[in-house]
Amino acid sequence: MKDLKGKTAFISGGAEGIGFYVARVLGRQGMKVMLGDIDAKMLEQAVQTLKGEGLNVEGVYMDVALKTDWEVAAEKTIQTFGKVHLLIGNAGVAVTGAQKYIQESDWRWIIDVNLMSIVFGTQVFFPLLKAHGEGGHILNVASIAGIHGVSYSGPYCATKAAVVSLSECYRREFEKDGIEVSVLCPGFVKSRVYDSMRNRQARYGGPIHHEDLVKVKPSREMNKKIVVEGIDTDIAANRVLEGLLNNEFYIFTHPHYRDLHEGRAREMTEAFIRADASPALATVPRSGIVLR
Ligand SMILES: NC(=O)c1ccc[n+]([C@@H]2O[C@H](COP(=O)([O-])OP(=O)(O)OC[C@H]3O[C@@H](n4cnc5c(N)ncnc54)[C@H](O)[C@@H]3O)[C@@H](O)[C@H]2O)c1
Repeated sequence: MKDLKGKTAFISGGAEGIGFYVARVLGRQGMKVMLGDIDAKMLEQAVQTLKGEGLNVEGVYMDVALKTDWEVAAEKTIQTFGKVHLLIGNAGVAVTGAQKYIQESDWRWIIDVNLMSIVFGTQVFFPLLKAHGEGGHILNVASIAGIHGVSYSGPYCATKAAVVSLSECYRREFEKDGIEVSVLCPGFVKSRVYDSMRNRQARYGGPIHHEDLVKVKPSREMNKKIVVEGIDTDIAANRVLEGLLNNEFYIFTHPHYRDLHEGRAREMTEAFIRADASPALATVPRSGIVLR
């Protein structure tokens, strides 16, 4: 998106953390911003803070895991601002730990919040982004953990890899409709993501605070340390702005993780070379349908 002034953004999970700082950066560019969040108190505080700074920001309570809440959020966005140009699928949660300890309810929770939110958000907002013919953009927040699997982070990495993949699929699919797509893959950024379970809905087991998890397993304190020692949230938000203005598809915030990507790409290239040399595949054609 080249010209943000006067356009409208919707940001899920905008009450705090990365979503909040991105809202501030976009508001300062002259965008109208609707924040959607499950934490009503933090949402109200965020809206008041940004309004106090002279920004055109409103909020809507929503649970991103529910398609009906997306519909309500979209309706409020249109009623308030008339049109919407940018959807930021930012709300996300983390579940970590050895795979044998992860409950089915936590798998369901993280899949619904991190992945189904992107599915529902796109389904509901896509027609609205397209309707006005002024061009639209969808920015999905994944993670560097969606580019590279990390031990003891299976549910988080799997859902974020799915967000990267879905964004890659939508990128080509939406071209003809004038809708651009980006995927943000941050490394550690200061936020409360380590305390994600504070917002866990009753149907998945209800809220638990980080401090209480640490009492049971002191090593969990590390989850907080690595996040609070991450880069400043406003720096990440400024990077998002750059990425949007340049219409970047992959948006990274931590250049040193290039090593992870290159190691993975190298390993895959070697696997293709082995496949090419494989006697079992000797008769298999070396060309076929182009995947795009
Ligand atoms: N902070 C990091 O180090 C980091 C790194 C990579 C990716 N991310 C991703 O960035 C995004 C933002 O996270 P953050 O770090 O700002 O964390 P955060 O916990 O500070 O903020 C998340 C926001 O999402 C909201 N939220 C949670 N569940 C929700 C639901 N069901 N419906 C609506 N809103 C909900 C929370 O209330 C909160 O306002 C997430 O997708 C996260 O996975 C964060």
